[in-house]
Amino acid sequence: MSSSPAPVSRSGRFAGGPAADVAAFSESISFDWRLWRHDIRGSVAHATMLKRIGVIDSTELRAIESGFKAIAAEIEAGTFEWKPALEDVHMNLEAELTRRVPAGARLHTARSRNDQVALDIRLWLRDEIAALQSEIRGLQKSLVELGARNPEVVIPGYTHLQRAQPVYLAHHCLAYAEMIERDHARLADCADRANVCPLGSGAIAGSTMPLDRALVAKLLGFVDSKGRARITQNSMDGVADRDFLVEFCAAGALLAVHLSRLAEDVILWVSSEFGFVRIADAYTTGSSLMPQKKNPDIAELTRGKSARVIGNLVSLLTLMKGLPMTYNRDMQEDKERAFDTADTVRACVRLMGALLDHTTVDTEACRKAAADPLLLATDLADYLVKKGMPFRQAHHVVGAVVGLSEKWGKPLDQLTVAEFRDIDPAFGPDVASVFKLGKAMARRRITGAPGTTEVRRQVAAWKKRLGPQPRG
Ligand code: ARG
Repeated sequence: MSSSPAPVSRSGRFAGGPAADVAAFSESISFDWRLWRHDIRGSVAHATMLKRIGVIDSTELRAIESGFKAIAAEIEAGTFEWKPALEDVHMNLEAELTRRVPAGARLHTARSRNDQVALDIRLWLRDEIAALQSEIRGLQKSLVELGARNPEVVIPGYTHLQRAQPVYLAHHCLAYAEMIERDHARLADCADRANVCPLGSGAIAGSTMPLDRALVAKLLGFVDSKGRARITQNSMDGVADRDFLVEFCAAGALLAVHLSRLAEDVILWVSSEFGFVRIADAYTTGSSLMPQKKNPDIAELTRGKSARVIGNLVSLLTLMKGLPMTYNRDMQEDKERAFDTADTVRACVRLMGALLDHTTVDTEACRKAAADPLLLATDLADYLVKKGMPFRQAHHVVGAVVGLSEKWGKPLDQLTVAEFRDIDPAFGPDVASVFKLGKAMARRRITGAPGTTEVRRQVAAWKKRLGPQPRG
């Protein structure tokens, strides 16, 4: 059986490298190489601290720094050779540094890959969350803009996918802006909890070396709002837990679910049955068979991809649930799930934003749908309430009106005052005014309602909050 060259972790104790199939089975470099920037950053901070406590001198620190600089340039240029035999990003970088710079052999003093990987993922997660949050802002802008481009458009709002009450299209769009605002906040929360430095936890039990953990934390930006270092307080917890990744995957899954619902609305809206919006050609796809088709694949894929993002959360929870303290190799499986959530959710947020930017509204189709007088049946009940009738009775009376209008085949807004009064004398000659849609929209004045003034106010508030610049 062929065997691979021995990685540094096997030197001394082992007679040779692992069997080739073992190396292939256990390597993670094929996916964790993307942590290289964070790994180098962490290593340079660690080396800086080792110099401060006298483990290396300043010449050695400079050599380590410039060694990593050269390696980073090669990785950027795509010329760096990653070696699967060296298992992971940590050993690839350390081995190559040590090959070039003798002081590299001192770098791993008082450090283990267990606290190193915990550090790298936290650093990575902080960056990913910041990037995702800015994409969320972009999507919010697209939602606000779609509403703002169509300020007069009213559509039926739905419950049970049955026409319920009229709402401004902008109100519907802003509902999603609100939902993903909470996703944004959840991500901020997660970033805050991840923003604690685990380096110094060692393999499990810290170190006998007098490490300056606070210095490392400060160098890497693990600080509170007052600039004080934030470091993990228990070495076992520091290497054993991945709750920050679980939180991220949970926040990502919820965001994906919100996007999936938005996607579903778009899919309904572009169907011939609704016809509320049209998507620009560049953001739709055709059918290989049916020449007339223009399909909303971006929305469908966004809806579909939420499944794997939910799966990533379940995978992570399942991965962690039976693990004894502390680090177990199982945990190497955390990365692909977290990477996939980050990449998938980010792409979905971006593409849904782009899709909305390339969506136009069929105002006539919306007008027709919103002209359905049944949408104002609740307003009719409110009309009776304003005349002094208890709501339960008004609900009953309007139910009877709707029943008769259906029986007579006569839309609600075409019943005569006499017909209304036959059903209940509380109806007055002003009953027709209930069905004037513009007036009906103006009547919805309370905070959060889809009223004319309120929605305008909300759109303006969102615009102000998101800033003037268009999506990049
Ligand atoms: N590649 C490993 C992981 O992702 C790094 C930590 C390895 N630690 C160890 N003791 N084998 O989890």
